Amino acid sequence: MSQGSEKKISPIGVFDSGYGGLTVLKEIRRLLPGHDMVYLGDNARTPYGTRSFQVVFEYTLEAVKFLFGRNCPLVILACNTASAKALRTIQQKELPHFAPDRRVLGVIRPSVESVARITRNGRVGVLGTPGTVSSLSYPIELEKWSDGKVVSTVQEACPMWVPLVENNELHSPGTDYFVEKNIRSLLAKDPLLDTVILGCTHYPLLIDTIRKFLPESIAVINQGPVLADRLADYLLRHPDIDGRISRNGSTDFLTTESAEIFGSKASLFLGETVSATTISIK
Ligand code: DGL
Repeated sequence: MSQGSEKKISPIGVFDSGYGGLTVLKEIRRLLPGHDMVYLGDNARTPYGTRSFQVVFEYTLEAVKFLFGRNCPLVILACNTASAKALRTIQQKELPHFAPDRRVLGVIRPSVESVARITRNGRVGVLGTPGTVSSLSYPIELEKWSDGKVVSTVQEACPMWVPLVENNELHSPGTDYFVEKNIRSLLAKDPLLDTVILGCTHYPLLIDTIRKFLPESIAVINQGPVLADRLADYLLRHPDIDGRISRNGSTDFLTTESAEIFGSKASLFLGETVSATTISIK
């Protein structure tokens, strides 16, 4: 599936700290199969979720600049931690200086708008990394963009979930233990919640385990399909950006760690053979 090194392409850049963004990439490719894509996983520096605001901002900015250097007119931060800690500053303070004609979009706003459409009682739970949770991005954005539909938001930081996914521990007693513990804690904060946001792009990979411990009546927001849908809509409304994205149906996979390891793990997540290239972000 990988191609494009000889041809000058201008793909959509999809960025995550590791493998989690593949859950978003998969859905984008489903909706926009002709658009070229380049996926960048900063596996050498994952996880981002336990790092400081400043460090996540710097790493994310480096990744965005790298992807612009790969000719991307548009970069998607398929990472809640990066969206929470870096997106706004990049959009408002950085882009106007070094790339006023390019765009960077994140995952939080589309997820919030989706919650507003789904919740019945306005009581929402957010599962995320410690960084996303402590940034308070979800409670703030839910209040701002849910059109008054969300009346209460509780959050739970799940520091072990990303390392479990990164190590392919999707079905194991250890994973059950940590997922159950965090879900119980979230439900104890609000036993009446009716919608839960998987506020980390790694978490859909744990959906079977999550569902074991979350009552069926609670709706779960999976960001991949939500984001892909919003992106398709965004491109329709912004033909200037859409027209600059090349269309050969290619996807390049880049990682800051071992290409071999990335290729084999990414194949597991995407269900297809993936050949990756190791790059240095700086
Ligand atoms: N997929 C990233 C997110 O959505 C994982 C963050 C991490 O690296 O800890 O937040």
